[in-house]
Amino acid sequence: MKLPILSKNDRLNLMKKFVIFLFIIIIWGLASYLTRWSASSVPPQVSNSELVFPENINKIFQKSCIDCHTPYTKIPLYGHIFPVTLYLQDHVKEGQDELNLAKWNEYKLKRQLKKAEEIFEEVNEGEMPPTSYLILHPDSKLNVEEIEELKLWSENFISTHE
Ligand code: HEC
Repeated sequence: MKLPILSKNDRLNLMKKFVIFLFIIIIWGLASYLTRWSASSVPPQVSNSELVFPENINKIFQKSCIDCHTPYTKIPLYGHIFPVTLYLQDHVKEGQDELNLAKWNEYKLKRQLKKAEEIFEEVNEGEMPPTSYLILHPDSKLNVEEIEELKLWSENFISTHE
């Protein structure tokens, strides 16, 4: 059997495709590099001392909330790939703007009360952690007891501080 021999034209076409392919890879790599995470978003884990809640509540926050509601996001490998990076950065920023658990003590009482109420509502309605997050982090799903613990904490916090 004769091996197919590429004509000059075929070779040129193949070469063109290869150059285009290389070009895309380089642009993609550059985009990933330019949108990379800043060092401050990569510290390993929020330490318990920064979470000022009762121990059982700290534990629940650690398990289910800190990735988006503290600056200590554990970034998955795919989270470094453009354009996933941009999506995650946007999401984490939004989450932290709404509620930064590592800054609880810096919040004014009025804000704490409002956030405690929002936490009650969000977990009561099963809105947090968001479903899109749970698909890749099934271990972070809150169970019934944890939801009850959070609601109880929230109610206690509000009734003792209002
Ligand atoms: C995947 C990231 C992510 C995780 C994990 C997550 N959140 Fe959120 N959270 C967000 C984003 C984004 C917002 C702002 C947009 C919105 O309200 O959906 C938010 C908003 C909130 C708000 C404010 C809602 C409002 O009424 O404005 C509360 C309270 C909250 N989250 C609580 C929690 C709690 C408690 C947990 C853990 C049980 C948790 N979140 C886990 C991303 C997250």
